[in-house]
Amino acid sequence: MKLIYEGKAKKIYDFEPGLVVMEFKDSLTAFNAQKKGSFQGKGALNLKFSNQIFSLLSQKNIPHHFVRSLNESQIVVKKLKMLPVEVVVRNFVAGSLAARLGIPEGQKVKNPIVEFYLKNDALSDPLLTENQILALDILSLEQLNKCTEMALKINQVLVSYFLSLGVKLIDFKVELGMDESGQYYLADEISPDSCRLWDQTTHAKLDKDVFRRDLGSVEQAYLEIAKRMGL
Ligand code: ADP
Ligand code: TMP
Ligand code: ASP
Repeated sequence: MKLIYEGKAKKIYDFEPGLVVMEFKDSLTAFNAQKKGSFQGKGALNLKFSNQIFSLLSQKNIPHHFVRSLNESQIVVKKLKMLPVEVVVRNFVAGSLAARLGIPEGQKVKNPIVEFYLKNDALSDPLLTENQILALDILSLEQLNKCTEMALKINQVLVSYFLSLGVKLIDFKVELGMDESGQYYLADEISPDSCRLWDQTTHAKLDKDVFRRDLGSVEQAYLEIAKRMGL
């Protein structure tokens, strides 16, 4: 297969018409790859995690790019034209929102917050206002609305799923893409790399923050969440 893109956590290969192969690497990065790590089996774990979420979303008729698994680190997905943004949904204050506004982490927000970040490594993915998105033609109004609607639907499904596992979904990031007919799909991955997951009672972190903040074994955190998901 011809490698068409290598990112920080995944590789993309050309496959059949309309399809690409997404390979999950064992590497782990933070702060725009200024911090690097890895553990054996991390890619396979994220693939299983992501696939489980895709199958949950299928049951709720939320379209996503997953087609089939090839092996433990590669899946076949629809080849999409990716929207140039990362969409973040927050149920509790944490991370960059806590830092920017000086609010303690863990405070519940009244309604889920949807934020957009420009996908641009050189600029470290800056936050965008909706006004900027439209005025600078980063997304059309239809795309902006579709991102918000899909991200909030995904949030509803994931919040109740994780609660059933004794886990609070603090926040997460999604990426969306469009196929040639203009249909929108959830793309990329949903994994502990792209979510904040806290144990409901102890508030222990079961996600990439363990690596970002040097809080212990990130592998143990990922294995704990995998165990609760029955993976
Ligand atoms: P990054 O590019 O931020 O380093 P990754 O290592 O996760 O991130 O690389 C995966 C890349 O593949 C991302 O740029 C993502 O936007 C892109 N991608 C995800 N799903 C699809 C898809 N279905 N079709 C085309 N590109 C995709
Ligand atoms: P933030 O609080 O750092 O802005 O992160 C919000 C959510 O987005 C969190 O669940 C982690 C996820 N995220 C990514 O998936 N990729 C990124 O590059 C960043 C900065 C955050
Ligand atoms: N995804 C970004 C990186 O790989 C940042 C992060 O997740 O903290 O550097």
